[in-house]
This record gives sequence, C-alpha cells and structure tokens, in this order.
Amino acid sequence: MSLLEKIRETQAFLEEKGMIKPEFGLILGSGLGELADEIENSIILDYADIPNWGQSHVVGHAGKLVYGDLAGRKVLALQGRFHFYEGNSLELVTFPVRVMKALGCEGVLVTNAAGGINFGPGTLMAISDHINMTGHNPLFGPNLDDFGPRFPDMSDAYTKAWREIAHRVAEEQGLKLDEGVYCGYAGPNYETPAEIRAFKGMGADAVGMSTVPEVIVAVHSGLKVLGISAITNKAAGFQAELNHEEVVEVTQQIKGNFKGLVKAILAEL
Ligand code: HPA
Repeated sequence: MSLLEKIRETQAFLEEKGMIKPEFGLILGSGLGELADEIENSIILDYADIPNWGQSHVVGHAGKLVYGDLAGRKVLALQGRFHFYEGNSLELVTFPVRVMKALGCEGVLVTNAAGGINFGPGTLMAISDHINMTGHNPLFGPNLDDFGPRFPDMSDAYTKAWREIAHRVAEEQGLKLDEGVYCGYAGPNYETPAEIRAFKGMGADAVGMSTVPEVIVAVHSGLKVLGISAITNKAAGFQAELNHEEVVEVTQQIKGNFKGLVKAILAEL
C-alpha cells in the first residue's frame, strides 16, 4: 500500500470511530502526556488498534490516541510519540502528523523534554526554529503532492504568530516562557560534550531526540506549528552526568505549569 493509501485508510478508520475534524493536533513528549487525560468527551484508542500506526515503548509514553475537547477546542492528542531511535522509519514517526492534516487540523502543538544548552532545568522554551542534526529527513522519497511541495520553505516553521500568542498568554498566566532554537539529535545516546559545544556554536539553545521530523512534515503539509520544550537537564558537559530518571523527575516538576500553559494557549489560538 502506498503512503497516501495508508493515510487515507487510517483517516477513514479514525473518522468512523468519531474523530471528526479536530482543530489541533497535540504531540505530547516524555512525561507530558498527562495533558491528554484532561480531554473531555473523549474518544480513546490504543495505538495497537489503529491501522498503519506505530507502537510506543519508552517509559513515560503511554501509547494512546485521544480525541475530544480541551480548553474549548477540538483536539487530537498523541499520548506518546514515535522516536527514530526506536528503529521506526521516519515515515512511521511522522505518520500521525499526516493523518492530523488529513483529518482537517489547522496546526500542531509539539512538545518535548530537552537538554538545555543556554537554559537550565525547569525552563519552558517556545521553539523559535530548529537545526536538523539527525542526518535524516522524513521527506526523502517521492513527494506527496497532495500534501505539499517538493521543496518546502522552512522560514517560518514555528509559526511566529502562534509564538506571539504563547508569550502573551504566558505573561497573563504569570509563567516564564523563554524562547530558543531546538537542535534535533537522533539519539538514543545523549550527546557528547564536544557535540554540545558544536551545537552551541551553531546557535542551538536546547537539544533533544524528537520533534524535528514531525515539524518538517507538518510544515510540508501546511500545518501551523507551536513547539514547546520542557528543559529537564543541562546538556552534556554542563552537568556531571545525564540520565533518563532525571529527565522524568524534572518533567514531573514542570508538568503542572506546562499543562496550564498549553491549555491557556489552546484557548487563544
Ligand atoms: N539530550 C537529548 N535529549 C534530551 C536531553 C538531552 O540532554 N534531555 C531530555 N531529552
């Protein structure tokens, strides 16, 4: 089956389950998936039951697709994303974004846990731009002309107008929202200190193992994007050692602010 046929099949399946015309797709990163538990009038599907869909294996990623109302908007939330480092193809990693577009979403809110290069743990960072250091691209191969052009323009990948709304809402909520460039690294090892020094020199403010493929596909298909990183640790070389337990722990501490902020932003988009 071609990619386009798979997208159409999954779209039809989800519509048949009642997931009709979501306005926004939410891609919830490590430990941030709890936001989907607050969705009202929800329809919930296990990833395993959705045709052409991947599986989620990482601790802190639930593996459920949740549709319903959040902050007065119709959303479709990925509670757990697919990572390239799990061995998934980038087609599979970005497949949900294609389906979000097919279902009628206007844009996607993409979140992740990230290591801070110029920011410390606990920071919420609106992503202003990214650097693709994964060495791969989800648009390799025949172009899906039904979705977008062969050579998409990434000049405003992280929709400026949405970032401005995010900053205004954060200020109204009394929450600090920083802004910076996200560097996407394939993982699964954390970066070396030398890589972090290189990324810092290139202009990166934070680094993580997701988001870049999904955003490239979102931009290709004309979806607006808001990206928010929860900084869970200082990047390699700026603190003694890195581990996933710390990432999960700090995410637990930030998630209250994070959930409040995302809901407030959603209401205003
Ligand atoms: N590097 C890459 N990914 C991450 C990090 C990091 O330091 N922290 C959380 N996700």
